[in-house]
Amino acid sequence: MVQAQRDAAWGEVARRLAHEIKNPLTPIQLSAERLEFKLADKLTESDRSILERATKTIVEQVGAMKTMVNEFSEYARAPVVNLALVDINDLVRDVLELYQPEHIQIVTDLCHQSTQVMGDAVMLRQVLHNLLQNAQDALDGVAKPVIEVRTDIQAQHVTLSVSDNGSGFPIEMMTRAFEPYVTSKPHGTGLGLAIVKKMIEEHKGQISLHNLNQQKKVSGAQVIVSLPLASEISSPSSSASKSKKTNNKSKKTSTVKSKRVTS
Ligand SMILES: Nc1ncnc2c1ncn2[C@@H]1O[C@H](COP(=O)(O)OP(=O)(O)OP(=O)(O)O)[C@@H](O)[C@H]1O
Ligand SMILES: [Mg+2]
Repeated sequence: MVQAQRDAAWGEVARRLAHEIKNPLTPIQLSAERLEFKLADKLTESDRSILERATKTIVEQVGAMKTMVNEFSEYARAPVVNLALVDINDLVRDVLELYQPEHIQIVTDLCHQSTQVMGDAVMLRQVLHNLLQNAQDALDGVAKPVIEVRTDIQAQHVTLSVSDNGSGFPIEMMTRAFEPYVTSKPHGTGLGLAIVKKMIEEHKGQISLHNLNQQKKVSGAQVIVSLPLASEISSPSSSASKSKKTNNKSKKTSTVKSKRVTS
């Protein structure tokens, strides 16, 4: 409880700070552009080119700061959760329909019990998106890249797992990947999983990271999210009707490119 209050207080400080940093950025950019506009004609050729380069640097760097502060604000944002019934299977189908990366085989294995949770559809969509993006990044250069998205019901929770057959989590990331700004990518912000974790916690859920192994070698990564079911009594018939093709394994329903990953 005390920890929660402390977190909330720091969140508020962070939000205000981000706001205060953002305020002067636009005037700085505009002033630099104005200087260039006013002085360019009055200078010699070589001085003008110095002015142009300096202005360009200011405008670009201030732009980069704006992006960083915006992303930080998103991370430190006060949680405004719009709760409604969200069917995780439907959400997975929805997101995957729009998400068709070239060359990557997407496999789904969706359970056909009710996967309804009380959640914020926008946030949960972003969770899935960030996990898919990470999987896709990890598959760079892999010969037969596969992402598997699976849902299950366990102990009154919906589990959603996203697995890939990529590089796996670097060992030092297993304990640090949820920390903001921790990244192994040249252009990563390191905020993806920090945001995901925050959102899952706002849903009273849990998230864990794993590396998959095959013949004692890392064969990919898996992220498992667990969210409390909306209703304690989940009747299998309630959402089974929404499922499309069922394969002969009575419990599972497979949609998009229904091919199982065997690992
Ligand atoms: N599916 C995955 N396979 C292997 N490593 C992963 C996977 N997902 C995350 N990671 C590791 O965890 C780190 C943190 O991930 P996170 O999503 O927080 O940031 P990022 O992906 O590096 O940056 P951004 O999300 O801004 O693109 C990654 O840099 C990577 O090292
Ligand atoms: Mg990421």
